[in-house]
Amino acid sequence: MSAPFDDIAAEFAFPIGRMRATIAAFQDEMRRGLAGGPSSLKMLPTYADNPTGRERGSVLALDLGGTNVRVLLAGLTGDGRAPTLDGDKFKLEPAHIVSDAEVLFGAIARFIGRFLERRGLAGPFNMGFTFSFPIRQLGIDRGELIVWTKGWSAAGVVDHDVVALLNRALAREGLERVRVVSLNNDTTGTQVARAYFDPACDAGCILGTGTNVCYRERTAAVGKPLDAYAGEAMIINMESGNFNRELPRNRFDAALDEASENPGEQWTEKMVSGKYLGELVRLVVADLAAAGRLYGGRPPALFAEPGFFTSEHVCAAKADVSAGADAVRSLLAGLGASGTGAGEAVAVRRVGWLVSARAARIAAAVLAAAISKGDPALDRPHTAAVDGSVFEKHPGFKEEMEKTFLELWPERGARIRPALTHDGSGLGAAIIAASTAR
Ligand code: GLC
Repeated sequence: MSAPFDDIAAEFAFPIGRMRATIAAFQDEMRRGLAGGPSSLKMLPTYADNPTGRERGSVLALDLGGTNVRVLLAGLTGDGRAPTLDGDKFKLEPAHIVSDAEVLFGAIARFIGRFLERRGLAGPFNMGFTFSFPIRQLGIDRGELIVWTKGWSAAGVVDHDVVALLNRALAREGLERVRVVSLNNDTTGTQVARAYFDPACDAGCILGTGTNVCYRERTAAVGKPLDAYAGEAMIINMESGNFNRELPRNRFDAALDEASENPGEQWTEKMVSGKYLGELVRLVVADLAAAGRLYGGRPPALFAEPGFFTSEHVCAAKADVSAGADAVRSLLAGLGASGTGAGEAVAVRRVGWLVSARAARIAAAVLAAAISKGDPALDRPHTAAVDGSVFEKHPGFKEEMEKTFLELWPERGARIRPALTHDGSGLGAAIIAASTAR
């Protein structure tokens, strides 16, 4: 007899043969994107490269990529000592992210003002700006939003220079003493923060609410105009969350995409990131219940509600090692799913593992593709700086990624090292700002 839910396991499998085809397609998209041709990968020039480690100064950083906004002050000594970081977290209202440029950036400028006021900081300060959305960067301190992701929709930002929008908002708040000198994505910030002390770091990855990867590329391989950029290498923000070829998609992915606010977009993100993992589990469990395999064919009404089961819930379910999944049972009962027995709880946990293991394998495939483009036989060691709750909090996620690298390169797979890098989008922005202002 087959184990229960083996059919679901087959639908969420991502075997290595298939993954090799995915990696080949990914690298094909990378090349097209670098040449400026049509591609699901935007391959955005960042005008930043790995730091030297000698960047120094007292620099502000702004980290904007979710409703939690952080303002930080970094102290960089440039002599190998660990940077100091002092930051505050502020919360945007849900209304801010769907408002307009003036409202959104006004709120952010006031956060910066409050941060300086609390500490009695006079300035002047240079500031690095981490903006974790796809930006068409035109220089280190200029970049236009291409399209909102993550459900944001504030008007008047798409096709506008977000550095200018922020500088204008700072001026309106009487904060001219803060000058935004550089702009970067969160992936880039994370790579730079790690590369500050780890020269083997040549990729940055976010596995959180959203997902994306950047990596270090030879400037000569970039076919797009790069203004006066003179460096030999440049970090490229791939916007890999939008990759859409040769993915192991199934009917649940299709259903999730159709019901999303951006159908047809961000397919990799929808299979990998924290915003969607819980929803995939909900869709599978609802389907099993509808087929009469759980809840006696009558699932609690809750299972018809998109978004009720979150990535955090999936984490908690996976962490429950009891035979009857007791903690999952009380979790579901607490959420209001009455009638959840041991059978249902064990199933939810199993589905959680299946969905997140596939996510980890896709994440590994994306990193493998980016890193092996320039080093196909893994002749060198590579650190991928990774940040985000999915990587940090999901039991077994990092291990599944490491296992995948070994499946791809049985002898050398361990040369790709995914390394948890905290605060990258704060510290990295400060380092980039310091190197720009020098
Ligand atoms: C989304 C954004 C991307 C960001 C990622 C992680 O995919 O488009 O720019 O890096 O989320 O925050």
